[in-house]
Amino acid sequence: MASAKGGSGKTVLTSTFASFLCALGKKVLMVDTDASTNGLTLMYLKEVMVQAELARSEKREPKGSFEISILKNYAEIVSLESGIDLIPSTFSFQNTEECEIAKFREGLKQILRDHSGNYDFIFLDAQAGSDSFAGFCMKRGVSDQVIIVSEYDPLSAAGIERLKGIFRDDLTYDRTWVLLNKMLPDFVQSFSDFLEVAKYLSPIPWDAEVVKSYARRRLALNLESGNEFTLAIIQTLRSFIGIEIEDEVNNWLNSRSALLREPIEIQYDDANREMKLLFKIIKSEERKQIRKRWLTLSMFLSAAFSLFFVIWNVTDDGMTRSFFKQKINNEQLLLVLLGIVTVFIPFILRDFIIPKTSIEDENTKDRLRRLQDRLEKLDSLRRANVDVLIKYNIKNSIIN
Ligand SMILES: Nc1ncnc2c1ncn2[C@@H]1O[C@H](COP(=O)(O)OP(=O)(O)OP(=O)(O)O)[C@@H](O)[C@H]1O
Ligand SMILES: [Mg+2]
Repeated sequence: MASAKGGSGKTVLTSTFASFLCALGKKVLMVDTDASTNGLTLMYLKEVMVQAELARSEKREPKGSFEISILKNYAEIVSLESGIDLIPSTFSFQNTEECEIAKFREGLKQILRDHSGNYDFIFLDAQAGSDSFAGFCMKRGVSDQVIIVSEYDPLSAAGIERLKGIFRDDLTYDRTWVLLNKMLPDFVQSFSDFLEVAKYLSPIPWDAEVVKSYARRRLALNLESGNEFTLAIIQTLRSFIGIEIEDEVNNWLNSRSALLREPIEIQYDDANREMKLLFKIIKSEERKQIRKRWLTLSMFLSAAFSLFFVIWNVTDDGMTRSFFKQKINNEQLLLVLLGIVTVFIPFILRDFIIPKTSIEDENTKDRLRRLQDRLEKLDSLRRANVDVLIKYNIKNSIIN
Protein backbone atom coordinates (compact mmCIF):
# COMPACT_ATOMS: atom_id res chain seq x y z
CA MET A 1 0.00 0.00 0.00
CA ALA A 2 1.82 3.06 -1.27
CA SER A 3 0.97 6.67 -1.93
CA ALA A 4 2.44 9.77 -3.44
CA LYS A 5 1.13 12.02 -0.67
CA GLY A 6 0.75 11.43 3.04
CA GLY A 7 -2.61 11.02 4.72
CA SER A 8 -4.36 9.38 1.78
CA GLY A 9 -5.56 6.47 3.94
CA LYS A 10 -2.97 3.69 3.46
CA THR A 11 -2.85 2.69 7.11
CA VAL A 12 -6.60 2.71 7.67
CA LEU A 13 -7.22 0.79 4.48
CA THR A 14 -4.41 -1.72 5.09
CA SER A 15 -5.91 -2.52 8.43
CA THR A 16 -9.46 -2.56 7.08
CA PHE A 17 -8.65 -4.87 4.16
CA ALA A 18 -6.73 -7.14 6.51
CA SER A 19 -9.63 -7.28 8.97
CA PHE A 20 -12.19 -8.08 6.34
CA LEU A 21 -10.04 -10.78 4.75
CA CYS A 22 -9.42 -12.20 8.19
CA ALA A 23 -13.17 -12.29 8.83
CA LEU A 24 -13.49 -14.27 5.61
CA GLY A 25 -11.15 -16.85 7.12
CA LYS A 26 -7.95 -15.77 5.38
CA LYS A 27 -4.63 -15.66 7.19
CA VAL A 28 -3.31 -12.14 7.01
CA LEU A 29 -0.08 -10.45 8.09
CA MET A 30 0.43 -6.69 8.14
CA VAL A 31 3.94 -5.26 8.17
CA ASP A 32 4.54 -1.67 9.17
CA THR A 33 7.15 -0.45 6.72
CA ASP A 34 6.52 3.25 7.24
CA ALA A 35 9.65 4.69 8.82
CA SER A 36 8.28 8.18 9.13
CA THR A 37 4.86 7.74 10.74
CA ASN A 38 4.90 4.15 12.06
CA GLY A 39 1.17 4.29 11.37
CA LEU A 40 0.21 0.64 11.94
CA THR A 41 2.41 0.40 15.03
CA LEU A 42 0.71 3.42 16.57
CA MET A 43 -2.72 2.20 15.60
CA TYR A 44 -2.15 -1.01 17.57
CA LEU A 45 0.14 0.53 20.17
CA LYS A 46 -1.52 -1.17 23.13
CA GLU A 47 -1.16 -4.64 21.63
CA VAL A 48 2.42 -3.87 20.55
CA MET A 49 3.36 -2.82 24.10
CA VAL A 50 1.74 -5.92 25.61
CA GLN A 51 3.64 -8.15 23.18
CA ALA A 52 6.89 -6.31 23.96
CA GLU A 53 6.40 -6.97 27.66
CA LEU A 54 5.57 -10.60 27.06
CA ALA A 55 8.66 -11.09 24.88
CA ARG A 56 10.90 -9.43 27.46
CA SER A 57 9.44 -11.53 30.23
CA GLU A 58 10.48 -14.52 28.15
CA LYS A 59 14.00 -13.07 27.89
CA ARG A 60 13.64 -12.08 24.28
CA GLU A 61 14.21 -8.60 22.84
CA PRO A 62 11.32 -8.05 20.40
CA LYS A 63 12.25 -6.70 16.97
CA GLY A 64 10.17 -4.73 14.53
CA SER A 65 10.57 -4.50 10.77
CA PHE A 66 13.22 -1.76 11.11
CA GLU A 67 15.06 -3.53 13.89
CA ILE A 68 15.89 -7.02 12.80
CA SER A 69 19.41 -7.70 11.75
CA ILE A 70 19.76 -10.37 9.19
CA LEU A 71 20.35 -13.91 10.40
CA LYS A 72 20.66 -12.77 14.00
CA ASN A 73 17.03 -12.43 14.97
CA TYR A 74 13.52 -12.57 13.65
CA ALA A 75 10.61 -10.15 13.76
CA GLU A 76 8.24 -10.43 16.72
CA ILE A 77 4.67 -11.06 15.68
CA VAL A 78 1.79 -9.35 17.45
CA SER A 79 -1.43 -11.36 17.20
CA LEU A 80 -4.30 -8.94 17.19
CA GLU A 81 -7.71 -9.69 18.63
CA SER A 82 -9.24 -9.70 15.17
CA GLY A 83 -7.01 -12.63 14.20
CA ILE A 84 -4.63 -10.59 12.07
CA ASP A 85 -0.90 -10.76 12.71
CA LEU A 86 1.17 -7.60 12.79
CA ILE A 87 4.86 -6.90 12.57
CA PRO A 88 5.28 -3.36 13.89
CA SER A 89 8.03 -1.08 12.67
CA THR A 90 9.61 -0.92 16.10
CA PHE A 91 9.24 -2.17 19.66
CA SER A 92 11.88 0.14 21.10
CA PHE A 93 10.50 3.32 19.59
CA GLN A 94 13.84 4.52 18.32
CA ASN A 95 13.70 6.81 15.29
CA THR A 96 13.04 4.34 12.50
CA GLU A 97 13.92 6.94 9.85
CA GLU A 98 17.51 6.55 10.88
CA CYS A 99 17.52 2.88 10.00
CA GLU A 100 19.99 2.10 7.22
CA ILE A 101 18.26 1.20 4.00
CA ALA A 102 20.45 -1.90 3.57
CA LYS A 103 19.40 -3.17 6.99
CA PHE A 104 15.75 -2.50 6.22
CA ARG A 105 16.01 -4.31 2.87
CA GLU A 106 17.56 -7.39 4.35
CA GLY A 107 15.16 -7.35 7.28
CA LEU A 108 12.09 -7.11 5.07
CA LYS A 109 13.39 -9.82 2.76
CA GLN A 110 13.86 -12.05 5.77
CA ILE A 111 10.34 -11.34 7.02
CA LEU A 112 8.91 -12.25 3.63
CA ARG A 113 11.07 -15.35 3.37
CA ASP A 114 10.02 -16.48 6.83
CA HIS A 115 6.33 -15.79 6.46
CA SER A 116 5.07 -15.74 2.89
CA GLY A 117 4.29 -19.44 3.07
CA ASN A 118 2.22 -19.02 6.22
CA TYR A 119 -0.22 -16.37 5.08
CA ASP A 120 -2.80 -15.91 2.36
CA PHE A 121 -2.09 -12.18 2.24
CA ILE A 122 0.74 -9.98 3.46
CA PHE A 123 0.18 -6.23 3.43
CA LEU A 124 3.08 -3.80 3.55
CA ASP A 125 1.99 -0.37 4.73
CA ALA A 126 4.60 1.74 2.96
CA GLN A 127 5.77 5.25 3.58
CA ALA A 128 4.21 8.07 1.56
CA GLY A 129 6.30 9.40 -1.29
CA SER A 130 9.27 8.08 -3.16
CA ASP A 131 11.92 7.53 -0.51
CA SER A 132 14.04 4.38 -0.60
CA PHE A 133 12.03 2.53 2.05
CA ALA A 134 8.84 2.90 0.01
CA GLY A 135 10.76 2.27 -3.22
CA PHE A 136 11.97 -1.05 -1.90
CA CYS A 137 8.49 -2.16 -0.78
CA MET A 138 7.14 -1.44 -4.26
CA LYS A 139 9.84 -3.48 -5.97
CA ARG A 140 8.92 -6.41 -8.13
CA GLY A 141 10.09 -9.44 -6.18
CA VAL A 142 9.30 -7.79 -2.86
CA SER A 143 5.58 -7.20 -3.41
CA ASP A 144 3.34 -8.91 -5.97
CA GLN A 145 0.92 -6.03 -6.37
CA VAL A 146 1.14 -2.34 -5.56
CA ILE A 147 -1.89 -0.28 -4.61
CA ILE A 148 -1.30 3.46 -4.82
CA VAL A 149 -3.83 5.02 -2.47
CA SER A 150 -4.74 8.55 -3.43
CA GLU A 151 -7.25 11.23 -2.76
CA TYR A 152 -9.23 12.52 -5.70
CA ASP A 153 -7.85 15.91 -6.67
CA PRO A 154 -5.53 17.24 -9.39
CA LEU A 155 -2.50 17.49 -7.09
CA SER A 156 -2.86 13.91 -5.95
CA ALA A 157 -3.38 12.77 -9.53
CA ALA A 158 -0.14 14.49 -10.52
CA GLY A 159 1.51 12.77 -7.55
CA ILE A 160 0.45 9.34 -8.81
CA GLU A 161 1.94 10.05 -12.22
CA ARG A 162 5.15 11.30 -10.61
CA LEU A 163 5.43 8.11 -8.54
CA LYS A 164 4.78 5.95 -11.58
CA GLY A 165 7.47 7.91 -13.44
CA ILE A 166 10.09 7.55 -10.71
CA PHE A 167 9.55 3.82 -10.33
CA ARG A 168 8.84 3.17 -13.97
CA ASP A 169 10.41 -0.29 -13.97
CA ASP A 170 8.55 -1.52 -10.94
CA LEU A 171 5.19 0.21 -11.22
CA THR A 172 4.18 -1.46 -14.43
CA TYR A 173 0.59 -1.79 -15.63
CA ASP A 174 0.28 -5.48 -14.73
CA ARG A 175 0.99 -5.05 -11.01
CA THR A 176 0.00 -1.50 -10.17
CA TRP A 177 -3.43 -0.31 -9.06
CA VAL A 178 -4.73 3.09 -8.11
CA LEU A 179 -7.26 3.29 -5.31
CA LEU A 180 -9.09 6.59 -4.92
CA ASN A 181 -10.05 7.09 -1.31
CA LYS A 182 -12.18 9.70 0.47
CA MET A 183 -14.09 10.31 -2.71
CA LEU A 184 -17.30 12.31 -2.58
CA PRO A 185 -19.97 9.62 -2.21
CA ASP A 186 -21.92 10.94 -5.22
CA PHE A 187 -18.90 10.45 -7.48
CA VAL A 188 -18.19 6.89 -6.47
CA GLN A 189 -20.81 5.09 -8.51
CA SER A 190 -20.34 7.09 -11.68
CA PHE A 191 -16.60 6.44 -11.57
CA SER A 192 -16.67 2.78 -10.67
CA ASP A 193 -17.43 1.40 -14.12
CA PHE A 194 -14.90 3.43 -16.01
CA LEU A 195 -12.14 3.12 -13.43
CA GLU A 196 -11.70 -0.64 -13.53
CA VAL A 197 -10.67 -0.49 -17.15
CA ALA A 198 -7.94 2.00 -16.27
CA LYS A 199 -6.54 -0.22 -13.49
CA TYR A 200 -8.31 1.74 -10.84
CA LEU A 201 -9.85 -0.20 -8.00
CA SER A 202 -13.42 0.48 -7.01
CA PRO A 203 -13.09 3.82 -5.12
CA ILE A 204 -13.90 4.33 -1.46
CA PRO A 205 -16.13 7.22 -0.43
CA TRP A 206 -15.33 9.71 2.26
CA ASP A 207 -17.10 8.46 5.35
CA ALA A 208 -17.47 10.24 8.68
CA GLU A 209 -17.48 6.88 10.45
CA VAL A 210 -13.87 6.33 9.34
CA VAL A 211 -12.76 9.56 10.95
CA LYS A 212 -14.73 8.93 14.15
CA SER A 213 -13.45 5.38 14.47
CA TYR A 214 -9.86 6.36 13.68
CA ALA A 215 -9.93 8.84 16.54
CA ARG A 216 -10.63 5.89 18.86
CA ARG A 217 -8.05 3.66 17.13
CA ARG A 218 -10.85 1.62 15.65
CA LEU A 219 -12.01 0.72 12.17
CA ALA A 220 -15.29 1.77 10.61
CA LEU A 221 -15.71 -1.76 9.33
CA ASN A 222 -18.82 -3.48 10.69
CA LEU A 223 -18.38 -7.22 10.48
CA GLU A 224 -21.53 -7.97 12.39
CA SER A 225 -24.22 -6.36 10.31
CA GLY A 226 -22.27 -4.36 7.71
CA ASN A 227 -22.46 -0.67 6.86
CA GLU A 228 -21.84 1.51 3.81
CA PHE A 229 -18.10 1.58 4.42
CA THR A 230 -17.96 -2.21 4.67
CA LEU A 231 -19.84 -2.48 1.38
CA ALA A 232 -17.34 -0.13 -0.27
CA ILE A 233 -14.46 -2.23 1.08
CA ILE A 234 -16.09 -5.38 -0.30
CA GLN A 235 -16.43 -3.70 -3.69
CA THR A 236 -12.78 -2.67 -3.66
CA LEU A 237 -11.55 -6.10 -2.62
CA ARG A 238 -13.72 -7.68 -5.29
CA SER A 239 -12.20 -5.41 -7.91
CA PHE A 240 -8.74 -6.33 -6.65
CA ILE A 241 -8.83 -10.04 -5.81
CA GLY A 242 -12.37 -10.94 -6.80
CA ILE A 243 -11.97 -14.56 -7.83
CA GLU A 244 -9.83 -15.54 -4.87
CA ILE A 245 -12.43 -14.45 -2.35
CA GLU A 246 -15.69 -14.59 -4.31
CA ASP A 247 -17.12 -17.64 -2.51
CA GLU A 248 -16.15 -16.37 0.92
CA VAL A 249 -17.60 -12.92 0.21
CA ASN A 250 -20.86 -14.45 -0.99
CA ASN A 251 -21.04 -16.68 2.08
CA TRP A 252 -20.40 -13.69 4.30
CA LEU A 253 -23.09 -11.67 2.53
CA ASN A 254 -25.56 -14.56 2.75
CA SER A 255 -25.02 -14.96 6.46
CA ARG A 256 -25.48 -11.18 6.95
CA SER A 257 -28.53 -11.37 4.77
CA ALA A 258 -30.16 -13.98 7.02
CA LEU A 259 -29.24 -11.94 10.07
CA LEU A 260 -30.58 -8.71 8.60
CA ARG A 261 -33.78 -10.24 7.31
CA GLU A 262 -34.71 -11.69 10.67
CA PRO A 263 -35.83 -8.40 12.28
CA ILE A 264 -37.64 -7.48 9.07
CA GLU A 265 -39.59 -10.75 9.18
CA ILE A 266 -40.52 -10.06 12.78
CA GLN A 267 -41.67 -6.54 11.92
CA TYR A 268 -43.57 -7.86 8.91
CA ASP A 269 -45.40 -10.48 10.99
CA ASP A 270 -46.25 -7.89 13.63
CA ALA A 271 -47.59 -5.49 11.01
CA ASN A 272 -49.63 -8.28 9.45
CA ARG A 273 -51.11 -9.21 12.79
CA GLU A 274 -51.94 -5.56 13.46
CA MET A 275 -53.59 -5.34 10.06
CA LYS A 276 -55.78 -8.40 10.76
CA LEU A 277 -56.78 -6.94 14.10
CA LEU A 278 -57.61 -3.61 12.51
CA PHE A 279 -59.79 -5.34 9.92
CA LYS A 280 -61.59 -7.22 12.69
CA ILE A 281 -62.27 -3.94 14.45
CA ILE A 282 -63.45 -2.37 11.20
CA LYS A 283 -65.76 -5.33 10.48
CA SER A 284 -67.36 -5.29 13.90
CA GLU A 285 -67.73 -1.52 13.66
CA GLU A 286 -69.36 -2.01 10.27
CA ARG A 287 -71.80 -4.60 11.66
CA LYS A 288 -72.68 -2.23 14.48
CA GLN A 289 -73.39 0.53 11.97
CA ILE A 290 -75.58 -1.72 9.83
CA ARG A 291 -77.59 -2.85 12.87
CA LYS A 292 -78.05 0.73 13.95
CA ARG A 293 -79.26 1.79 10.51
CA TRP A 294 -81.64 -1.14 10.17
CA LEU A 295 -83.11 -0.23 13.51
CA THR A 296 -83.54 3.40 12.46
CA LEU A 297 -85.10 2.34 9.20
CA SER A 298 -87.57 -0.10 10.75
CA MET A 299 -88.57 2.46 13.32
CA PHE A 300 -89.08 4.98 10.55
CA LEU A 301 -91.16 2.51 8.51
CA SER A 302 -93.35 1.43 11.42
CA ALA A 303 -93.91 5.08 12.29
CA ALA A 304 -94.86 5.75 8.66
CA PHE A 305 -97.30 2.80 8.59
CA SER A 306 -98.87 3.73 11.86
CA LEU A 307 -99.36 7.26 10.61
CA PHE A 308 -100.81 5.97 7.38
CA PHE A 309 -103.35 3.76 9.16
CA VAL A 310 -104.31 6.46 11.56
CA ILE A 311 -105.01 8.78 8.66
CA TRP A 312 -106.81 5.93 6.78
CA ASN A 313 -109.11 5.21 9.63
CA VAL A 314 -109.90 8.77 10.68
CA THR A 315 -110.66 9.99 7.20
CA ASP A 316 -114.36 9.47 6.55
CA ASP A 317 -114.79 10.67 3.10
CA GLY A 318 -112.58 11.84 0.32
CA MET A 319 -111.74 10.65 -3.15
CA THR A 320 -108.75 8.52 -2.37
CA ARG A 321 -110.41 6.42 0.29
CA SER A 322 -113.67 5.81 -1.65
CA PHE A 323 -111.71 4.93 -4.76
CA PHE A 324 -109.57 2.38 -2.88
CA LYS A 325 -112.53 1.10 -0.88
CA GLN A 326 -114.33 0.09 -4.03
CA LYS A 327 -111.34 -1.74 -5.44
CA ILE A 328 -109.45 -3.24 -2.50
CA ASN A 329 -109.84 -3.85 1.17
CA ASN A 330 -107.48 -3.02 4.02
CA GLU A 331 -105.62 -6.33 4.06
CA GLN A 332 -104.95 -6.24 0.34
CA LEU A 333 -103.64 -2.70 0.59
CA LEU A 334 -101.40 -3.71 3.45
CA LEU A 335 -100.01 -6.59 1.42
CA VAL A 336 -99.34 -4.40 -1.60
CA LEU A 337 -97.58 -1.83 0.56
CA LEU A 338 -95.53 -4.49 2.27
CA GLY A 339 -94.57 -5.90 -1.14
CA ILE A 340 -93.40 -2.52 -2.31
CA VAL A 341 -91.46 -1.96 0.89
CA THR A 342 -89.78 -5.36 0.73
CA VAL A 343 -88.81 -5.18 -2.93
CA PHE A 344 -87.94 -1.55 -3.51
CA ILE A 345 -87.08 0.12 -0.26
CA PRO A 346 -83.92 -1.94 0.45
CA PHE A 347 -82.66 -1.08 -3.06
CA ILE A 348 -83.43 2.56 -2.69
CA LEU A 349 -81.98 2.72 0.77
CA ARG A 350 -79.10 0.34 0.15
CA ASP A 351 -76.54 3.09 0.37
CA PHE A 352 -78.05 4.20 3.58
CA ILE A 353 -78.14 0.73 5.14
CA ILE A 354 -74.73 -0.44 4.01
CA PRO A 355 -72.25 2.42 4.14
CA LYS A 356 -70.17 2.81 0.97
CA THR A 357 -66.92 3.24 2.87
CA SER A 358 -67.16 1.01 5.81
CA ILE A 359 -64.47 2.97 7.63
CA GLU A 360 -66.03 6.21 8.58
CA ASP A 361 -63.61 7.20 11.24
CA GLU A 362 -60.71 9.33 9.93
CA ASN A 363 -58.30 7.98 12.52
CA THR A 364 -58.96 4.39 11.52
CA LYS A 365 -58.65 5.31 7.87
CA ASP A 366 -55.32 6.99 8.55
CA ARG A 367 -54.10 4.05 10.62
CA LEU A 368 -55.05 1.63 7.87
CA ARG A 369 -53.28 3.71 5.23
CA ARG A 370 -50.10 3.91 7.29
CA LEU A 371 -50.19 0.21 8.03
CA GLN A 372 -50.65 -0.62 4.37
CA ASP A 373 -47.65 1.57 3.44
CA ARG A 374 -45.56 -0.04 6.14
CA LEU A 375 -46.45 -3.54 5.01
CA GLU A 376 -45.54 -2.63 1.44
CA LYS A 377 -42.16 -1.25 2.54
CA LEU A 378 -41.43 -4.26 4.71
CA ASP A 379 -42.41 -6.62 1.96
CA SER A 380 -40.09 -4.95 -0.53
CA LEU A 381 -37.28 -5.08 2.05
CA ARG A 382 -37.90 -8.80 2.62
CA ARG A 383 -37.16 -9.27 -1.05
CA ALA A 384 -34.40 -6.63 -1.38
CA ASN A 385 -30.85 -7.80 -1.89
CA VAL A 386 -28.39 -7.73 0.95
CA ASP A 387 -26.55 -4.59 -0.23
CA VAL A 388 -29.73 -2.59 0.19
CA LEU A 389 -30.32 -4.03 3.65
CA ILE A 390 -26.79 -3.18 4.74
CA LYS A 391 -26.86 0.28 3.20
CA TYR A 392 -29.96 1.29 5.07
CA ASN A 393 -28.63 -0.16 8.29
CA ILE A 394 -31.70 -2.31 8.52
CA LYS A 395 -30.57 -4.19 11.59
CA ASN A 396 -31.22 -1.31 13.93
CA SER A 397 -34.08 0.37 12.16
CA ILE A 398 -37.76 0.18 12.80
CA ILE A 399 -39.62 0.61 9.53
CA ASN A 400 -42.38 3.16 9.81
N1 LIG B 1 -12.62 6.81 3.41
C1 LIG B 1 -12.29 7.70 4.33
N2 LIG B 1 -13.22 8.61 4.74
C2 LIG B 1 -12.91 9.53 5.67
N3 LIG B 1 -11.71 9.65 6.25
C3 LIG B 1 -10.75 8.79 5.88
C4 LIG B 1 -10.99 7.78 4.91
N4 LIG B 1 -9.85 7.07 4.77
C5 LIG B 1 -8.95 7.62 5.61
N5 LIG B 1 -9.48 8.65 6.28
C6 LIG B 1 -8.82 9.51 7.29
O1 LIG B 1 -7.63 10.04 6.74
C7 LIG B 1 -6.66 10.20 7.74
C8 LIG B 1 -5.36 9.60 7.28
O2 LIG B 1 -5.48 8.20 7.17
P1 LIG B 1 -4.23 7.24 7.24
O3 LIG B 1 -3.42 7.54 8.46
O4 LIG B 1 -4.69 5.88 7.04
O5 LIG B 1 -3.44 7.75 5.97
P2 LIG B 1 -1.98 7.32 5.53
O6 LIG B 1 -1.95 7.35 4.07
O7 LIG B 1 -1.58 6.08 6.21
O8 LIG B 1 -1.12 8.54 6.10
P3 LIG B 1 0.48 8.60 6.27
O9 LIG B 1 1.01 8.78 4.91
O10 LIG B 1 0.68 9.77 7.13
O11 LIG B 1 0.89 7.31 6.87
C9 LIG B 1 -7.22 9.57 9.00
O12 LIG B 1 -7.71 10.59 9.84
C10 LIG B 1 -8.37 8.74 8.52
O13 LIG B 1 -9.40 8.64 9.45
MG1 LIG C 1 0.05 5.57 7.43
